[in-house]
This record gives sequence, structure tokens and C-alpha cells, in this order.
Amino acid sequence: MSSKTIMTPVLKFWGFKQHPFDDRVLRGSELELFVDRKTEIRRLQNALSNPLSGVFGAQGAGKSSVLYKLEEWAISESYPVVVTQMSGASENLLYREILAAILQEIKAGKVKVLAKLKLKVDQEIERVQNSIKYTSAVEAAGEAGWKAMLNLTLKAGIKEQEERELAQHTEESALALIKKIAMHKKAPFVVIVDNLERARFLLDDEDAYFRFVTKFSQTIDGMFSDLGVPFVVSLDQIFADRINDNLPGTEEAASFSFGKLVELSVFPPPELYKLIARRLECRKWEGAVEDFVERNAFWALVGATGGHSRRAFAVLREAMELVAERSSDKTIGLEQMRTAIAQCGEKLDEKDLLILQFIEANGARSSSDEDFSKAVGLSRVQRGRRLNELVEKGLLRVEEQSSGKTKKYTYFLVKIDEDG
Ligand SMILES: Nc1ncnc2c1ncn2[C@@H]1O[C@H](COP(=O)(O)OP(=O)(O)O)[C@@H](O)[C@H]1O
Ligand SMILES: [Mg+2]
Repeated sequence: MSSKTIMTPVLKFWGFKQHPFDDRVLRGSELELFVDRKTEIRRLQNALSNPLSGVFGAQGAGKSSVLYKLEEWAISESYPVVVTQMSGASENLLYREILAAILQEIKAGKVKVLAKLKLKVDQEIERVQNSIKYTSAVEAAGEAGWKAMLNLTLKAGIKEQEERELAQHTEESALALIKKIAMHKKAPFVVIVDNLERARFLLDDEDAYFRFVTKFSQTIDGMFSDLGVPFVVSLDQIFADRINDNLPGTEEAASFSFGKLVELSVFPPPELYKLIARRLECRKWEGAVEDFVERNAFWALVGATGGHSRRAFAVLREAMELVAERSSDKTIGLEQMRTAIAQCGEKLDEKDLLILQFIEANGARSSSDEDFSKAVGLSRVQRGRRLNELVEKGLLRVEEQSSGKTKKYTYFLVKIDEDG
């Protein structure tokens, strides 16, 4: 593995064979980098008794990685898993893409079906793949594109009769075949549809996207209940926001169809720290995490990216390059982190940074504590608002204490575990 990767200047400088902060979906052996999300995974595991469940969260929050962590678990429990990534070519291909993935797993012998289904796997794979090609071509270039495609295959020597047969699968026929397979399976299997949130970019507007997912969820919920073929999909934050916006009628329809919708929020500071520590460890960093990134710089990273893993990695990569360029010590300091944050188009609020640093150094605080107000400044009201914003972002926790009639709120950080 390592001999195949290019030793870029930044890797050479830092002494890594592989970049610790490459942004990639974790799957298979890469899942060694996976941290946290225990509750979410448990909820997803238990959701598998429903025909349909999902994860939702911002882009880069870790939806795909969680789905693959679920896959790993299901396989370890001896349940085959079929994974499809919505390709993003067209929303009108979804069921065919799912069918194609299921057929591949049948061909590979992982999903097993009863003989009486009389499934001609190779032929069905060809049918569905051809139909995916046609639909993509038609949607990409209109009728002309379809004709061009047809000409091509005709030239390649396929007779028109075969042509028609091969092109037969539609979304309806694909769905029907998926159902038949589910009914004739030898043992339960899981279907994961990653990137379903891509439909949002294919459809004109949010309404259409919402309707698309609602329809999909009702279809799956209606057709696959009690079949032992649970579907798990990824959705973005917008979908969940819409449900919460309480559209009369649609809300119930959508949320009822999902056995469970599991939210993936950003990583709170201790988890982000763990995430960094794990990556450094797996990439054979020899020092401590603090040798790699100073604590103040870490707080700046937390403040700027809000614990959003994809964005945090981008800033860390940039900071590592800045350090390498100046060939200073192999440590990311606050100043380099500030520059990297700016270069990545992120914003660091200096007051937020002060608050986080202060609470880390001095422990839990109420917004009215005197030393706190001296260090941070701002009016009491403004300070209170800031603190609540940090709580909302998941960066601080708050506890309410009432003595007599007065209520006091103390804000604290969950301690960062030095051992990773
Ligand atoms: N639990 C986790 N532990 C470690 N890294 C993670 C975890 N979840 C996500 N990541 C990392 O965060 C980035 C975004 O994750 P991804 O699964 O692609 O998010 P999404 O599908 O929501 O866009 C990837 O670089 C991935 O490696
Ligand atoms: Mg994803």
C-alpha cells in the first residue's frame, strides 16, 4: 500500500507514508480510522427490524462512513449487505441501480435466492445495466442521445429484437423484481442506499426533493414490510428540517415510513480530538497529539469548523502544508492554524476562541462569573448569547442549577481524553 502512494512534499516533511487527513469515506480496512458514533450505530442496528430507516446530517458529517460501519457489523453477524450509491445520473434510475447491486451480490453468491424464482442472473444484470445506460443517455442528451446510443449498439452487431428485450427494465419492473427477490430470498439481507441525498441536486427544488424521498420511503415501507430486507439510506439535513417544519400531512407520511431516522451531528470537541488522535496513531505518528497540534490551535479548529469532520480535515491539511513550507517544527501552532482557517474560507471568531480556551483552562463557568467576564469581555447579555450559541453548536454543555428562586446556568467542556 505505502509503496504505491506518492510521497508528496508534505508527507515527506511530516514523515507520514499516508496522509492522516485524507478525506475519504471509511469502508473496509479504512474503518480502523472510525471513532465514536456508538449510540447512532446501536440505533441503526436496532432499526433493522423496520423496512426502512435512515441517517441524516450535513455534507461531510459522516453519513456514508456510518453506513459502512453498519455494513461491517451486519456482515459480522452473517447478514449479507447490498450497497448501492445513488449515482447521481438521474433520480429515475434509483430502483434499477438498487436492483443492479442486488443482482451483483446474487451473482457473487452472497445473497442467495430460492431456485423456484428461476432468476436468470446474468441476463437480468445485462437488462438492467442496458436500461440504466439508455436512460442516462436519454436524460443526458435527449432523444438524440438515445438514438446515437442505439446506432452504436446496432453497429456493434446487436439485433433490434434483442435490443428491445435488453432495454426492457423500467423503474417499475426493477422494483417488482426486487420485491420478488426479497420474497424468494433464502436468508435476510440488508440494502444500503448511500448518497440518496444526491437526489437533491438532481431535482429542481427542495419541494421536489422532499416529495421524491417521501414517495420512495412510502414505496419501500409499503412493499417490503415483514420481508426481512431492511433498507437503510442517507439523507441530508434539509430533509429532516422539512419534517420538523411540520408541513401538514407530509410530516406524518414521511416520518411514519421511516422506522427510524438517526441524526449524525457534528463531532463535539473530545470526539474531534479522538478522531485526530486515531488518525495520527494509524498513520504512525510517534509523538503525542499535542506535539502535532497545540491545544490552542485545536480550539481554533473547533471554533472555526464547529466539529465538522470534513471541514476540519481540510483545515488540518492546509495547516500541515503551511508548516512544511516554512519547515518549522513539526507542530501546528495557533498562528498557522489561523492562517489555514482563513485559507480554507472558514471563519474563526476570536471571542469564541477565548471562551473555549478560558473554560478549558479554568473549568465550568456561569456567564456572570467575574474572572470569566474580565477575560472574555462583552456585556453579560452578549456573553450569555454567545455561550448558548456554543451550546447549540454542540461545543459546550450547559447545566442548570436552581438555588431558591434564582436559576444559574453553568457552561462546561467535556474533558478531552488525552489518551485518545
Ligand atoms: N466516525 C468517524 N470517525 C472518523 N472519521 C470519520 C467518521 N465519520 C466521518 N469521518 C470522516 O469524515 C469525512 C466525511 O465523512 P463521510 O462519511 O464521507 O460523510 P458524508 O457521507 O456525511 O458526506 C471523511 O473524511 C471521513 O473519513
Ligand atoms: Mg456520503
